[in-house]
Parts: sequence; structure tokens; C-alpha cells
Amino acid sequence: METRGAAPSYPALVGSGLIASTGDEVAKRLRCPRCAIISDTNIAPLLADRIKQSLGSSGFRSTLITISAGEKSKTLEQAGAICNQMIDAGLDRQSFIVGLGGGVVGDISGFVAAIFHRGIPHVQIPTTLLAMVDSSIGGKTGVNTAAGKNLIGAFHHPALVIDDVDVLKTLPRREFNQGFAEIIKHAIISDAEMFASLKDVDLENLAPLIRRNIEIKSKIVAKDEHDRTGERALLNFGHTVGHAIERAGDYRKFLHGEAISLGIAAACNVSMKRVGLPPDQRDAIVDLLGQFELPTHLPPNFPREKIFEALAFDKKFESGEVRFVVTPRIGSAHLSSDVAIEDMREAVDQL
Ligand SMILES: NC(=O)c1ccc[n+]([C@@H]2O[C@H](COP(=O)([O-])OP(=O)(O)OC[C@H]3O[C@@H](n4cnc5c(N)ncnc54)[C@H](O)[C@@H]3O)[C@@H](O)[C@H]2O)c1
Ligand SMILES: [Zn+2]
Repeated sequence: METRGAAPSYPALVGSGLIASTGDEVAKRLRCPRCAIISDTNIAPLLADRIKQSLGSSGFRSTLITISAGEKSKTLEQAGAICNQMIDAGLDRQSFIVGLGGGVVGDISGFVAAIFHRGIPHVQIPTTLLAMVDSSIGGKTGVNTAAGKNLIGAFHHPALVIDDVDVLKTLPRREFNQGFAEIIKHAIISDAEMFASLKDVDLENLAPLIRRNIEIKSKIVAKDEHDRTGERALLNFGHTVGHAIERAGDYRKFLHGEAISLGIAAACNVSMKRVGLPPDQRDAIVDLLGQFELPTHLPPNFPREKIFEALAFDKKFESGEVRFVVTPRIGSAHLSSDVAIEDMREAVDQL
């Protein structure tokens, strides 16, 4: 079944056993004869051969480029090295890129697709739940620098996204669970019905849930593709404090989704105070995060002060420049410039 991704519209296929038809699906949409499959050291041994074979049987020649697994690989140097390997392999303007992996591979392979010969098609085959419901949708690609995450990048929508739910079977449990932080975020900002259904989610049949999340993100992105009007900023619910917690933990203590879970709990505390989120709804959100083993309290020894150092834009807060995403009730969110740094401090103190 086909779900439409964000504008400009592209198909996102979601289902079981789709990897085997990668070549056919690409052939329906792209005429380019050659491609680079970009993957990481964990995923390539599991899936690259099958993708290569499927592409080959549809007449595509592919070159596998493997990067080390992990966020550390998402750099400009690595992107440059990939470009050089592609040139050495004889790939050119008539080529395309298949990004086979989680959000790290998706972001860097998409970035390379955006800059290689000024832009070639990008096919995404996300292999983490987070990448399926979040990072593969919306066209944001990029790499990190020493100063921070995702500071260099480009908007480059994929030509096609293939979400084969079978690949999630090998995903470690913590990695699987962190995808639910973004799913719960989507529910809080725009879908009360999905929120209610998550309590009894069928983990053996995830395709409908993934499709629903693609729709939610695509709809928001379509209204504000380049992140200018504030609509897309709603997707940052839980991310202001979440990013600060990620940074305070040196990107090692928590996975992204775990930090976002804490950020969501903090944003709920702020929302109760500022926009009247009912306490029982905050409790329902915290319970649901807990159901997926996501943290909603900081460990006692966590360097809390570092969270505030990471929220280095205190000044902006004071001048009302920072707009914080709040939820007055589950299923709805808006930006507020009334949130002060003291509100954040209080909210984090409660974690
Ligand atoms: N572009 C966007 O809009 C956007 C949105 C959200 C997040 N992101 C980015 O996504 C990245 C995080 O993505 P992620 O959580 O998918 O991390 P990831 O890509 O690092 O994958 C997590 C880990 O799981 C392994 N893995 C992946 N798929 C597997 C599978 N099927 N079986 C076994 N192991 C598997 C990976 O090798 C890695 O070790 C961050 O860099 C973040 O900035 C981007
Ligand atoms: Zn996120």
C-alpha cells in the first residue's frame, strides 16, 4: 500500500516483504542505470546483498558504500569521502543513491544525494522505526559539526521511501522503543485518536501505525516545507529540553528518542502551567511513554545544570524570541512565546 510522503509528493511504501521488490519499485520511477547503496556496518551485512540482488534483477548496477554505524559518522568529512568513493566507482549525474539504514544513514545519504552533481535522486530504505516514522519523511538531510547537530544540510526529498516492517525484527529493543517517542509526539500534537489507540498497539502489525505517522508528519511538512511559518516547528514538541538533555548527556547517556521522552514530560509540565493541560492528560502521556520503557525522570546523578548550559539561548527566552511548543490538550499544539526560562527550570526540576 502506498502512502503519499510530504510535498513535493513522493510515494512511501509500507508493508511486509517489500525489500525483495526494491528493484521493481525503483524501476517504476527512475530511469538512472546505476546507484550507490549507502549503509552502515550493522545493517549492510544483514540487508545489502538482498537489495543489491533485487536491484540487479531489475537491471540496476550498484556499488555498496559502508560507513561505521553511529552518529559519529554523520560528518562533512564522511559525506566528502562518500562522494569520492562514488566518483571513483564511476557514478555520475545519471546515478541515484539508496540510503539503507536508520536516521544517520538517511541523513548523510540524503545530503550526499543533494550535493552530488548538484543533486541526484535519493531512495530511502529506513531500517529503524524512528527513521520510518520520522527522519525519512520531510526532506531534511544533513550532517553534524563540532558545534552542534545538523548544522549543515539541505532540503532534498526522496524519490521513493520503502518501509519494510520485517527489517525491524533485528532492531535492538532500546532502538525500537525510542521510535515510539516520536510516534507519541505526533499523537500529542495532532491525533488524539491515535494517542488513545497506542495503549493497545499491535506490535506484530505495525504497518498501519507507520502509515498514519507518515501522514501526520507529511501533512505538517506540506504546510511549511522549509520551516519558516512555524507550522513545521510543531514537530519540535519535546525537543527544546530533549536536545538539551541529549547534549548534557554527551549524546551517550540517552538515545535521541529517550531524551525526547524526557523533553515531552518537561513540555507537559510547562503546558500544564501555561496553557492548562489537564493533569490527568499529562499523567496519561507519562504512562504511555513508560509503556515503551522510555524515561520520564532523570537519573539522580544526572548533571542537571548542564541542561541549562545547553539551553544556551536564555537571552532569547528573555526577549521572547524563542517559541516553545505547548499542548493545551492531547491532539493539539501551538507555539508560545510566553514560556520563560524559569518555566523550563521548574519543568526540568520536576523530572
Ligand atoms: N532528517 C530528519 O528529519 C530527522 C528526524 C529525526 C532524526 N533524524 C536523525 O536521525 C538520526 C537517528 O536515527 P536512528 O535512531 O535511526 O539512528 P541510527 O541510524 O544510528 O540507527 C540506530 C542503530 O541501530 C542500528 N540499526 C539500524 N537498523 C537496524 C536493523 N534493522 N537491525 C539492527 N540494527 C539496526 C544502526 O546501525 C545503529 O547502530 C539522528 O542523526 C537524527 O539527527 C533526522
Ligand atoms: Zn526527534
